Amino acid sequence: MSENKIQIFDTTLRDGEQVPGCKLNKEEKLVIARQLELLGVNVIEAGFPVSSPGDFEAVKAVGQQTKEATVCGLSRAVEEDIRVAADALQYARYPRIHTGIGTSELHVKYKLCSTQEKVMERAVAAVKLAKSFVEDVEFYAEDAGRTENEYLARICEAAIKAGAMVLNIPDTTGYCLPEEYGAKIKYLYENVKGIEKVSLSTHCHNDLGLATANSIAGVMNGARQIECTINGVGERAGNTALEEVVMILKQHPYLNLTTSVNSKLLTETSNLVSHMMRMPVQPNKAIVGANAFSHSSGIHQDGVIKHRATYEIIDPQEVGVNSSSIVLTARSGRAALAYRLQKLGYTFEKNVLDKAYASFLLVADRKKEVEDNDLHALVEQEKLVF
Ligand code: KIV
Ligand code: ZN
Repeated sequence: MSENKIQIFDTTLRDGEQVPGCKLNKEEKLVIARQLELLGVNVIEAGFPVSSPGDFEAVKAVGQQTKEATVCGLSRAVEEDIRVAADALQYARYPRIHTGIGTSELHVKYKLCSTQEKVMERAVAAVKLAKSFVEDVEFYAEDAGRTENEYLARICEAAIKAGAMVLNIPDTTGYCLPEEYGAKIKYLYENVKGIEKVSLSTHCHNDLGLATANSIAGVMNGARQIECTINGVGERAGNTALEEVVMILKQHPYLNLTTSVNSKLLTETSNLVSHMMRMPVQPNKAIVGANAFSHSSGIHQDGVIKHRATYEIIDPQEVGVNSSSIVLTARSGRAALAYRLQKLGYTFEKNVLDKAYASFLLVADRKKEVEDNDLHALVEQEKLVF
């Protein structure tokens, strides 16, 4: 594996599915998993097998169906969870068990009612048990974002010794700043013995709107896997959005960090997940929102008509959108109106265009958006063509 290749670990079907009201059944998970494989993700976290019989069956079926990607099942550092996850993954070609435990003071003290040393013992036992079933074991240190670095380094080191191949450093509560999260990854690379044998993974939540920035800070400091979801769906404010990290790395080639995702399938994957989870995508969502490639103010429209790159940093075709759109509103200028009229087959001299523009503004003030049929009507009513 090339050193600069970032593994994309998609957790839409596990962390993403934890959104209230977005529960997916086995058939729906299979459809999404097929699309994720087509998209080119490296790891599909299919579910949390011990959580319900339905999720167990779904993880098993995704494992049976998937050909190229690694299929992962989540477990707590609990013997039964790990055994059930191993059972669910038995038919997967490339199975991975993702096991772990809370490591921050808050988790150790209040959630686990335990001590750092006991948590460390549980982590080691969990990784060893998982390793007795599958080669590929990923360890997560839940709430690593708020875990002090010295203890985090010690537990990571113990997990490596026990056989973990990937160490997940989750910012479970979305608390970290990018600089802080990047520094945490760097600290682990510099202070954990055996770290060169494994890869570090980012897993960021979006409570402060920083999940994507933190994931990028993580890979810029050496992490080689990003855990993310389509449309950024997930607990509370969600997880890192897959489409965002993929396009950031693509649009900044000097970072020399690449993924195997076929970005041209991002929009159709986003639509599929939104439809199946019955969770609309906000119009201004980066990359996949309905307005991500539409221009509505006169100044921007004029620029884009003259040269696309004046206001577009991504060619829409790169993410599977045919072209950007010019939305006609009362903020549009003559250039946008002329451009759209021309597309409809009308070319006017300047004085006729001025007349059309004056009428257009009256329609635009009445309506939020002026559509093609409004323009045909306007041309007819004003007798602009004979
Ligand atoms: O956010 C988190 O810490 C998680 C772990 C279970 C990996 O989702
Ligand atoms: Zn999470």
